[in-house]
Amino acid sequence: MLGKIHLFFGILVVIIFLLTGQYMDKNFNHLQDMELMNRALFRAGHLYILLFGLINAALGAHLKLSKTKWINLVQKLGSLVIFSATILVIYGFFTELPTENIERPLTRFSLYLILFGVSVHGLISLVPNKYKTI
Ligand code: HEM
Repeated sequence: MLGKIHLFFGILVVIIFLLTGQYMDKNFNHLQDMELMNRALFRAGHLYILLFGLINAALGAHLKLSKTKWINLVQKLGSLVIFSATILVIYGFFTELPTENIERPLTRFSLYLILFGVSVHGLISLVPNKYKTI
């Protein structure tokens, strides 16, 4: 079940990625006249959203929750962090750009969160245990 949620959420985020392209195209003239710092930050934000969506979809395609209670809990914690990171990177794209400042604290934090969430899932997958598919 959690895997399916990641998969469908990931597909939704990839659709949102396409919409961020439309947003840059329609609202900011395809970034054509924008100065370079903001233009580069918009590009990076557009692609972060694609990658966060793909992380969710790929994790969802393979995730098997453990029958072992504490491992199951750690997996759910990792997923919660990944969902939060993904929502935050999308929020950051729309609220932190364009900017006068090179710093984007929400977007930066979302990247720390996704690193943490993916690491939790990766590390816990190394612990031997019985799996079930839900
Ligand atoms: C609705 C569809 C899309 C629209 C309207 C769109 C729009 C844009 C815009 C406005 C930029 C910034 C261009 C610039 O700074 O000159 C951009 C950059 C980019 N887009 Fe999209 N995009 C779309 C879908 C995609 C897809 C499907 C991909 C690939 C998987 C993609 C990959 C990229 C890449 C790699 C860049 C950065 C290009 C560079 O740095 O040279 N985009 N997109």
